[in-house]
Amino acid sequence: MARSMRAIAVLPAQHEVKVLTAPEPRLQSPTDVRVRILEVGVCGTDKEICAFEYGTPPSGSEHLVIGHESLGEVVEAGPAVTKVRPGDLVVVMVRRPCDRPECVPCRAGRADFCSTGEFVERGINGAHGFMTEYVVDDERWLVPVPRSLRDVAVLVEPLTIAEKALLQVAQIQARLPWSCETRTRGWCHAAVVLGAGPVGLLGAMALVRAGFRTFVYSREAEGGAKDSLVRSFGATYVSSATTPPEGLPERTGGVDLVYEAVGLSRLAFEVMAHVERNGIFVFTGVAALKGPQPLDTDTLMRNLVLKNQVALGTVNAGRDAFEAAVADLGVFLERWPDAIREVITGRFPIEAHRDLLLGKPGGIKNLIALAN
Ligand code: BGC
Repeated sequence: MARSMRAIAVLPAQHEVKVLTAPEPRLQSPTDVRVRILEVGVCGTDKEICAFEYGTPPSGSEHLVIGHESLGEVVEAGPAVTKVRPGDLVVVMVRRPCDRPECVPCRAGRADFCSTGEFVERGINGAHGFMTEYVVDDERWLVPVPRSLRDVAVLVEPLTIAEKALLQVAQIQARLPWSCETRTRGWCHAAVVLGAGPVGLLGAMALVRAGFRTFVYSREAEGGAKDSLVRSFGATYVSSATTPPEGLPERTGGVDLVYEAVGLSRLAFEVMAHVERNGIFVFTGVAALKGPQPLDTDTLMRNLVLKNQVALGTVNAGRDAFEAAVADLGVFLERWPDAIREVITGRFPIEAHRDLLLGKPGGIKNLIALAN
């Protein structure tokens, strides 16, 4: 008889979030791997799912096991598995391809660009996630992580958002001579990150690592905890409480790239009006639908055209971004060991799930620890 395990699930029809018991999953195919989950990050998407605003259980199930920011340890590998073995640390990728033959990205292994919208996302849409003790998946969805990253590797998935963005920025900006060496202003490009939550802070670290003069723009006052964290990894903190969007270029010396990580559309478009010639604006936040808001669309359109600008939206991540995130986390840990650890503000037992998912627990990235 299968052993049972605990899992954190939402039941949308009953408007419930609870810990339930489920049978431990078993290998189904020779390339399957069984992973013992060590810890899972709690993010805004999980909270939205728990507020019944987003997310769908697998077909035929009343509940959805949530959680998509994973770190686990391989405990069993099928006979045809070649890429991982028991004892390896792994992060499980989130999205699975749709099965439509006409979906060129999915057929080419790029489900993060699925063109039909019929993809599945573990812990979010149509498949159970990782806030549980064991998961089974095909080895092609596992990303190996070095042991040296054990403390911080749960940040791989949220960091993939910035990595996918940076990969695209590099491709898009190859449209013009944009490398730092060709600039005459004496400094490299300035990047502004909107928001100082986990996605913003990890994005800011990735931008500093990539050579951008990086500014983090958020609500908290200058001189506070966020300011010193941001300073500790070589970026500059600018408070929106004292510098309005139109004051940003003066503080930053021009804005070449904006990495939006807060989901506030009004603020985003206000900042967009101050992007430089040839600049690029990357949206990663999912804005709450608050209805129409006034916006100077003429200025935005004139700038986009007359200043050769690009606005880009990005979601989810492919294997390239996961691998870049693993590599970058290694760099962050070496360069800024305290800062990267400070992004993780708490590890909590499964019993704390209600507070973390339904309350306002504070902190930056909180984790549910399922095993040691
Ligand atoms: C996840 C992505 C996912 C997106 C939309 C994010 O929180 O990190 O993997 O594609 O939500 O569902």
